[in-house]
Amino acid sequence: LVAGVDTSTQSCKIVVRDAATGALVRSGAAKHPDGTEIHPDHWWTAFGEAARAAGGLDDVAAIAVGGQQHGLVALDAEGRVIRDALLWNDTRSAPAAEDLIRELGDGDRTAGAQAWADATGSVLVASLTVTKLRWLRDAEPENATRVAAVALPHDWLTWRIAGYGPADSSPLGPDLDALVTDRSDASGTGYYDAQGADGAGEYRRDLLRLALGRDDVVLPRVLGPAESGGTAHPSVAGAEVDGGALIGPGAGDNAGAALGLGMEPGDIAISLGTSGVVSAVAPTRTADGSGAINGFADATGNALMLAVTLNAARVLDAARTLLDVDVVELARLAQAAPPGADGLVLVPYLEGERTPNRPDATGTLHGIRLANSTREHLARAYVEGMLCGLADGLDALRAQGVPVERVMLIGGAARSAAVQEVATQVFGVPITVPEPGEYVADGAARQAAWVLAAAGDPAADAPDWATAVDSTLDADPRPVVREQYAAVRDLV
Ligand code: XUL
Repeated sequence: LVAGVDTSTQSCKIVVRDAATGALVRSGAAKHPDGTEIHPDHWWTAFGEAARAAGGLDDVAAIAVGGQQHGLVALDAEGRVIRDALLWNDTRSAPAAEDLIRELGDGDRTAGAQAWADATGSVLVASLTVTKLRWLRDAEPENATRVAAVALPHDWLTWRIAGYGPADSSPLGPDLDALVTDRSDASGTGYYDAQGADGAGEYRRDLLRLALGRDDVVLPRVLGPAESGGTAHPSVAGAEVDGGALIGPGAGDNAGAALGLGMEPGDIAISLGTSGVVSAVAPTRTADGSGAINGFADATGNALMLAVTLNAARVLDAARTLLDVDVVELARLAQAAPPGADGLVLVPYLEGERTPNRPDATGTLHGIRLANSTREHLARAYVEGMLCGLADGLDALRAQGVPVERVMLIGGAARSAAVQEVATQVFGVPITVPEPGEYVADGAARQAAWVLAAAGDPAADAPDWATAVDSTLDADPRPVVREQYAAVRDLV
């Protein structure tokens, strides 16, 4: 058996799977406080609770951890967490991101943005770790001075599972050199080049130094996709982990989901959650100086290209509130109106927008006439507007030369019949809807099986699982929907 963990922004989820077949054996989850900053000890407690909810992990032979990307876990020389971790969704470092962009461009923002994209795959936004280090240097200099190691959420949890931590709360103590990570999560820091050093990947300590003013800090060792980072310690968190279980490198959550879904070049995952994430696995990353596309790494040897929109599932929640209907009725209403909603168009920037980069934008409902002033038209306009916003992200990927052959639609809203129908009309490629699952934890479990196989365990010989598909839908392009959307979007 292998275990996959997803330490996410809200909770810890664990799946236990058969290493050879991928069959789900048990699972467990535990919530922890969320928000934009949190003490990592909450992740540790939730891990223990989730492991117990999953029936204990004392029979697993390997374990790997996927997790929320980018969060800054700053450790002092004693392995103590210096301050609450600043998470990916904490925006206080937005001015620091702008400063760093201009500094790398010697005062020229365009040149600086391109330089960051060339160096690391991504133009800086507040999510990326390096901007949080700059914020720390400026806002909390006494904390910045104490930083001895910088870890990401999944690195830190992996280190704790191996038995490391502060001397008073861990069996093995604060060995900072025992920290490990993987290329996917490292690629979201802003100081790692996944394609540098002849493709092997390398830390860009010069960029770290630019942000923090020094680079004499320990950074986690970047493991290969099937390389073990040590073994679990028997007495961790009362979680009943098998001491001796191999620990995998782990991954950032988007890369973990790509593994869990079995994505290959040509596949695009579109996740309809609080934010909309359009992601693609591609052989090499590009360097999009406009910032629309983040060129991260996946958890194998490919690139993971990502466009993030801020307006996804909550746009549909807003439509439900407006119309006072449930999910099923919203879909029924939307499907009763024609494609294009007879000219009623929603540009869905209800929360501002990140792709395209319009943080201060608001939503626009355009083209209202007597003939389309119905509940059905309104429902359809909301569904179409949300998906057209994501189709813009898909176009940004296409513009970077990323092949788009199929869209895998995931997240709660992907279950809606109206969302599926409109997706076939605006994305222009076949749509598959995978069975609902814990894709990030599944991906981590799959990676744990690779580690086991690499260690010569015959039970994990063919760890090549694929997530089952619920439905497959052919493309049904209706150009009018995107044409009228684009016309209104360019007005606002
Ligand atoms: C990706 C990002 C989010 C987090 C969510 O750049 O910020 O998707 O990884 O956990």
